[in-house]
Amino acid sequence: MNIHNEIRVIFPSLSCNEAFARTTAGAAAAQLDPSAAEVIDIKTAVSEAVTNCIVHGYRDRQGNIEMICRVTDDNTLYIRIRDKGCGIPDVKKAMEPLFTTASCEERAGLGFAVMESFMDSVKVNSTVGKGTTVIMKKKIAAKEIYTAAMSRREGADEELK
Ligand SMILES: Nc1ncnc2c1ncn2[C@@H]1O[C@H](COP(=O)(O)OP(=O)(O)O)[C@@H](O)[C@H]1O
Ligand SMILES: [Mg+2]
Repeated sequence: MNIHNEIRVIFPSLSCNEAFARTTAGAAAAQLDPSAAEVIDIKTAVSEAVTNCIVHGYRDRQGNIEMICRVTDDNTLYIRIRDKGCGIPDVKKAMEPLFTTASCEERAGLGFAVMESFMDSVKVNSTVGKGTTVIMKKKIAAKEIYTAAMSRREGADEELK
């Protein structure tokens, strides 16, 4: 697996930057020719991770969020989202569906569940007082139209031999 492209952005934890992050991740994913559904999945997962940095990681203060979007030659998108906020004391518990430390009217406790269902894998590393890193991965399916065109082309190449 070789890195094909890597985009790194750092932005302050302002709620308006959630839209910036999801658009940036969508643009990075576009290089892999994703379906509309795959783009929505990626953008939704990024929204959840960035919202968590803003709402939980930095709570009432402001800090920086770093997002790296990496495209590899096996048609996979890796997204790493990192804050230097309060950290998570028990990551396993935090990732359980419906678990939330916010007041129940405010949040549903489903952010990690959404990330896990929309991406192929989600890994969370966190240290209390130091911050949280979420690494998500999604392989973009090869398009049938392309695969069919390629196999026709291969067939034609065979005939020429
Ligand atoms: N970046 C983060 N920094 C600190 N705590 C976090 C972070 N992300 C998630 N958490 C913790 O994990 C819990 C579960 O997150 P999530 O599944 O997104 O649900 P919700 O955001 O609705 O609470 C949060 O309530 C919070 O306690
Ligand atoms: Mg959340």
